Amino acid sequence: MAKPSTLAAPYPKQGSADGHARSAPTPQALQPAPPPAATPIATQNGIPEYLIRHYGWAYLSPRGMRFFDRPAIINLILFGQYRALKEETLRCLTREAAGETLQLACVYGDFSTRMQQALDGQRFHLADVLPGQIKLSQQKIKADKDVCFSRMDAASLAYRDDSLDTIVVFFLLHELPPEVRERTLNECLRVLKPGGRLLITEFASPTNFLTHLDPRRHLLARAEPWLKGFLGQDLNQRLEQMAVTQGKSISRLHHRLFGGGLYGVNVFKLESLSVHEQQKSTLS
Ligand SMILES: C[S@@+](CC[C@H](N)C(=O)[O-])C[C@H]1O[C@@H](n2cnc3c(N)ncnc32)[C@H](O)[C@@H]1O
Repeated sequence: MAKPSTLAAPYPKQGSADGHARSAPTPQALQPAPPPAATPIATQNGIPEYLIRHYGWAYLSPRGMRFFDRPAIINLILFGQYRALKEETLRCLTREAAGETLQLACVYGDFSTRMQQALDGQRFHLADVLPGQIKLSQQKIKADKDVCFSRMDAASLAYRDDSLDTIVVFFLLHELPPEVRERTLNECLRVLKPGGRLLITEFASPTNFLTHLDPRRHLLARAEPWLKGFLGQDLNQRLEQMAVTQGKSISRLHHRLFGGGLYGVNVFKLESLSVHEQQKSTLS
């Protein structure tokens, strides 16, 4: 595990006053916790309440964790597309030099192990809000000076502005309540360097009548409280709007659908917005 070289500031312990539990290590890219947002996300001991209420059985319960942490089970949940989605995400990751990379939230199976191999010594950050999920990933990932685990809320990342080259988000966004999702996307754009890439592997919005009728979508919508809202949003457009407010611009370089249009692998590239473009967007 990477040892921090500069400790910007000590991190509040679990259950601290700001409710944003974090723990060491603190690599150079990390910064002191930002001031609490205007409306703090409700937590219990630093764990978001939505996570306890809706996903505790899958991510907090030891039985659930043992059950789900198997590629065969994830493949079943992803209707047989796990391997294809994982390979495509890894292919996109290594198409350009990934640089300093964050995997935002742990995932079950061998995806993170494969990411570590693909990164081949480039610094790999893995952040999750649940200590149990970090521990599980630590058991799977080879301890290395270039790997850094942090307990962190995706909606309030403890990284400096423009500090990371790549962020990979694998099936996290649809599990977040709208406000948390918005903040998470904003945080990704804040901490990514201009020229950096955001890889999002997620459910894809229906593109036509047939994909709209897909019975799998209706089944999933019953189990996933925020999936419908997530799919109702144009991710590409929302990211473009958010980027402008941060003086950046974003464009989608790659979008490939899987599983009959149910899933999509997306690669976005972030750039800084030129002064001219900034003026234009303020005037319009
Ligand atoms: C990324 S999704 C992965 C879903 C997928 N079924 C899998 O495991 O492959 C689940 C992870 O997101 C984490 N998570 C949920 N909300 C979070 C947040 N606000 N910040 C950081 N991690 C979060 C959970 O703790 C869990 O480890």
